[in-house]
Amino acid sequence: MTAMKTPGPAGPATPAPGRALLLEGIHHSAIEALESAGFAVETLPGALEPDDLQDALAGVTVLGIRSRTRLDADCLRESDDLTAVGCFCIGTNHVDLDAAATRGVPVFNSPFGNTRSVAELTLAEIVLLHRRVVDRSTELHRGEWRKSASGCREVRGRTLGIVGYGHIGSQLSVLAEGLGMQVLFHDVAHRLPLGNAFAVGSLDELLERSDVVSLHVPATPLTEGMIGPAAFGRMRPGAILVNNARGSLVDLDAAAEALRSGRLGGIAVDVYPSEPESNGPGFSCPLSGVPGAILTPHIGGSTEEAQETIARDVAEKLLRFVLGGSSRGAVNVPEVDLPRRVEGRHRILHFHRNVPGVLGRMHTMLAARGINIHAEYLQSDFERSYVILDVDASDAAMVQADLASIPETLRVRLIC
Ligand code: NAI
Repeated sequence: MTAMKTPGPAGPATPAPGRALLLEGIHHSAIEALESAGFAVETLPGALEPDDLQDALAGVTVLGIRSRTRLDADCLRESDDLTAVGCFCIGTNHVDLDAAATRGVPVFNSPFGNTRSVAELTLAEIVLLHRRVVDRSTELHRGEWRKSASGCREVRGRTLGIVGYGHIGSQLSVLAEGLGMQVLFHDVAHRLPLGNAFAVGSLDELLERSDVVSLHVPATPLTEGMIGPAAFGRMRPGAILVNNARGSLVDLDAAAEALRSGRLGGIAVDVYPSEPESNGPGFSCPLSGVPGAILTPHIGGSTEEAQETIARDVAEKLLRFVLGGSSRGAVNVPEVDLPRRVEGRHRILHFHRNVPGVLGRMHTMLAARGINIHAEYLQSDFERSYVILDVDASDAAMVQADLASIPETLRVRLIC
């Protein structure tokens, strides 16, 4: 039995593990994982507006969303039963993370579930740009037959410069070497080179030595506009640029100019400084209609396989939290990972404001009831703490009421 309670008067115990609501057509592997753990799962193909979402959340312990559902503070405030939120996507900025943390509700996502998809698309684009395939295809769609080998190259033996050797960059490194490319990379952190790849000392050096430059860094003040007129000036004449990372990295006006002048041999772009919120006509950017540019609508990570990987990843994180208390992978609360709970003991999950004395009061309350603590795990950030105690089996409702009465308690849950 899992007993849950928010601060305030004792609420009814909720039978384990509870109800899950999955919106936006989340991949069926998440549904299967939650159902096999005992959840009653309700699914909806689309997103819900905040008011409808608030109504739909009554009695729901786990909410799964993708990127179109906004979960704001008002909605969270009214959703007493909500225990955890899974964002079955990469970003989490459509959820009020602070409001969720204040209610002891961890939010999980899957930041790396689509790594392989981005790496594969990048590699494909590098080959297509070397062979000028997209321009030939566009011409042929218009009825124009232009068979030519001029300017077309194999990628074998060419040098690929990877900026950002993290999950995607390092995966691309391995795939590109498989095609016979020589790989060098630049990263601000020390990264172990894979295969025959090697690190260079600076971005400038990478730009000067690469036939292809592929960007795989996050959007930060340091990476904003990192590829502009000066960078294009440093790149090898006719080099190729791929930006499947973030729209803020490349000055697209400068890129269009470099492409038109022949300074740049080709470019593939998947991300833009400003992107439409929904599908439809009307998009344009400085590279629109410029030959030698592959433009894709932020689909780098959009594959069936990525959806499935993300679904499994987030469902597993949700289950580890709901069934065992582990907050590993949460983006808004301190991360606590735990060994399995010992049969016959209760596990107390306690979110509280990070001020001195709370633990002491918890210990005193448990001691007063003769409850022995067998294990204790704590993590804090600046504002909040998450502590997990494995204790003697005891009257769950009483313990819950005791701990909820501590003024700093944000949420207390017992796994019995
Ligand atoms: P990651 O966090 O695993 O790797 C990023 C790497 O960049 C790290 O090794 C970091 O040290 C390095 N880095 C940070 N600042 C740097 C700088 N100024 N210069 C050089 N290196 C720097 O991230 P991951 O998963 O590989 O993602 C890379 C990019 O791809 C991110 O911008 C992400 O948003 C984007 N992305 C795009 C997708 C799409 O659909 N097009 C899908 C998934 C990710």
